[in-house]
Amino acid sequence: MKDILLIAAYAALGAGAAGLLGWPAVRLLRRRSVALSLFTVAVVTVLAMTAGTVAVARAMFLSDHDFGVVLTVVCMAAVVSLAVAALLGRQVVRGSRALARAARTVGSDAGFVAPEQPLGAELAELSAELATTSARLAESRERERALESSRRELIAWISHDLRTPLAGLRAMAESLEDGVAEDPARYHARIRTEVERLTGMVDDLFELSRIQAGALSLSLSRVSVYDLVGDAIAGAYPLARERGVRLVGDRIEPVPVRVDPREITRVLANLLFNAIRATPSEGRVAVAARRRDQDVVLSVTDGCGGIAEQDLSKVFDAGWRGSTARTPRESGGAAGELAGSGAGLGLAIVRGIVEAHAGRASVRNTEGGCCFEIALPAEPAPDAAAT
Ligand SMILES: Nc1ncnc2c1ncn2[C@@H]1O[C@H](COP(=O)(O)OP(=O)(O)OP(=O)(O)O)[C@@H](O)[C@H]1O
Ligand SMILES: [Mg+2]
Repeated sequence: MKDILLIAAYAALGAGAAGLLGWPAVRLLRRRSVALSLFTVAVVTVLAMTAGTVAVARAMFLSDHDFGVVLTVVCMAAVVSLAVAALLGRQVVRGSRALARAARTVGSDAGFVAPEQPLGAELAELSAELATTSARLAESRERERALESSRRELIAWISHDLRTPLAGLRAMAESLEDGVAEDPARYHARIRTEVERLTGMVDDLFELSRIQAGALSLSLSRVSVYDLVGDAIAGAYPLARERGVRLVGDRIEPVPVRVDPREITRVLANLLFNAIRATPSEGRVAVAARRRDQDVVLSVTDGCGGIAEQDLSKVFDAGWRGSTARTPRESGGAAGELAGSGAGLGLAIVRGIVEAHAGRASVRNTEGGCCFEIALPAEPAPDAAAT
């Protein structure tokens, strides 16, 4: 037993001496190639083993022959372990170089191309991470492209929408100037109407750009949806009467909401004007407000005959105006009806304002028409808020 302890002590002494020398070398090389570090670890291991063996062999007073045998065995083991360490180092370096090459493809148009050769577990994990990042990058670039192209499209549409009435206004002004207008009073009235419409369009554009830039500042206050709906119906009533459409407030619960009343009135006005314009005369437009779970849902249901299923997802897009495309809806002579009324901004503004209130806007078809809904977070009852 004593011999064993003695041998262990000699071996530990020899190996420890090699380890003490090897540790600083490994630390010094930690910023260098991982292959070099691996090789150094193998060299330190071999040296520790050889030093321990030699120390024990010397202490045991082995004959020269036996000592030579021990040394030969140790040398063979050293050669094999160093060769294996060098191969392993090369393999790791090759894997990391392949991954570095592959990393350059992250964000490229073709997407991330993973290395073909097998990688160690950590490098494979890194490769999977790179593939996910690359996919996310491609997704956000695609979103950005779509946004950019819809912005370009909107600018083209709006310029078209502005150009047509401006040409009409110029023609009317020239006729008045030349004194060839048959009914100047009618021309003046038309010019005023058109200027008001163009002002509305520019206001809508400004509002939409504020929404998209996140610059819409809301002045929130606690109001009853009953009052909001009442004001909106009163504002839309003249148009409904003109169009022969019946406007009804249906099931309006007097629930409180915390909103910017001016902005939500604008939302309701946009929805009501759309609904009245889309409903044939003798038709009916109904406004309802009710509590649904944590939301207050305001809905406007019309008798438009329904929106094509494939268009339901597009109605809230800025500039989208349905099948009438960008052609004037109504037209006449210079003093007749100018280009159609809308620029397709109303529902984009609706969605922007509702989302700024942390709400949601949606549309679905109903029997004989469609129903636009806005869900706003309900204001908790005063006693619930106090607790
Ligand atoms: N209640 C509705 N019923 C049927 N179709 C509708 C209704 N509301 C909107 N739409 C369709 O969606 C399109 C986009 O509506 P939106 O309010 O955004 O623009 P607009 O009314 O054409 O113009 P703007 O509101 O800028 O004056 C409309 O042109 C119409 O085709
Ligand atoms: Mg509209």
